[in-house]
Amino acid sequence: MKILVTGGAGYIGSHTCVELLENGYDVVIVDNLDNSSEKAVERIGEITGRKPVFYNADIRDAKAMNDIFASEKPGCVIHFAGLKAVGESVQKPLEYYENNIGGTMVMLDAMRKNGCKNIIFSSSATVYGDPAFVPITEECPKGNPTNPYGRTKSMLEQILTDLNTADPKWNVILLRYFNPIGAHKSGLIGEDPKGIPNNLLPYVAQVAIGKLECVGVFGNDYDTPDGTGVRDYIHVVDLAKGHVKAIDKIKENPGVKIYNLGTGNGYSVLDVIKAYSKACGHDVPYVIKPRRSGDIATCYADASLAKKELGWEAEYGIDDMCADSWKWQSMNPNGYGDN
Ligand code: NAD
Ligand code: UFG
Repeated sequence: MKILVTGGAGYIGSHTCVELLENGYDVVIVDNLDNSSEKAVERIGEITGRKPVFYNADIRDAKAMNDIFASEKPGCVIHFAGLKAVGESVQKPLEYYENNIGGTMVMLDAMRKNGCKNIIFSSSATVYGDPAFVPITEECPKGNPTNPYGRTKSMLEQILTDLNTADPKWNVILLRYFNPIGAHKSGLIGEDPKGIPNNLLPYVAQVAIGKLECVGVFGNDYDTPDGTGVRDYIHVVDLAKGHVKAIDKIKENPGVKIYNLGTGNGYSVLDVIKAYSKACGHDVPYVIKPRRSGDIATCYADASLAKKELGWEAEYGIDDMCADSWKWQSMNPNGYGDN
């Protein structure tokens, strides 16, 4: 089966393309390189020995999308493309709604016109808002995301569900990711954020390599074991493998399915800094700062449904995640070098 991967040059997309190619799928990437580098596409080829087809195209471009679907005839789409910076989304709501929602509408129309009705969508634990309970199962009610980015995820989940209601030939798998970190074992692909990182792991990595001075820990007065925020960090390669399992599921024409992709373990900010210090061989300096607005105390998954229905389970622990992140960071101190 041919899989069309939007955002396939990006962080999670590039790791997923590697797993798809290694599992025998043909891969077509559509990415406008807004937050990624074509070098990631070359490296996917280097790792797997199979270069994916690559279109430098924008999912908002109806003609380009129609042409690509008409000529490639993919059997399924994995839809990663979108903007994802929480803080920026508060400043630029129109850009976020236009790219994430507008872009997805254009792409879905091209899919429909060309008879491709299978889609796996990158959703997020952010749709649970401040979760009603932890560990979070898929039954946990959706909450109120605190920012436009999170709202685009929640709305797109609804739009895709509505599509299946209108036409049950649509199969939709909503994958709710927890906190993806780490990098491919080869050290050839990894996360390459533009500017100062917003997320914890890339920030810690850049302090470890000496590009930034000190990690700011956003609050140590949460109701958690050490007072710092607790998250379910998941190795990006485990996450990527979850998508391959989701393709197996979509072949069964399942209608709409929702799965949490997490490990089920929660780690605090201080746990992560400690694990990273071990991985890089020296202490990573940090300082306690005030809480960041919109943050929640604790978020981790109950991932048993994915185990039961997809036969998927995360294999890597926090030490592997930090070691692989450090390998990528130290082999590529400036990422792909074109940011
Ligand atoms: P990323 O920014 O590395 O990848 C997204 C890719 O989409 C980039 O390569 C970017 O160039 C491309 N893109 C953006 N707008 C596009 C457009 N209009 N047309 C074509 N390409 C476009 O981000 P990521 O971390 O790999 O995330 C992938 C997906 O997973 C996103 O939808 C994100 O919201 C979601 N997600 C990420 C996380 C996380 O913590 N990284 C957590 C939950 C969900
Ligand atoms: N944190 C710090 N210092 C930093 C950055 C983060 O202490 O410099 C703390 C945060 O307060 C939080 C934890 O580290 O307790 C994790 O923060 P991240 O920004 O790495 O991740 P979030 O859990 O806030 O959000 C991420 C993505 C969202 C996604 C969510 C769930 O950014 O897009 O995971 O998948 F929705």
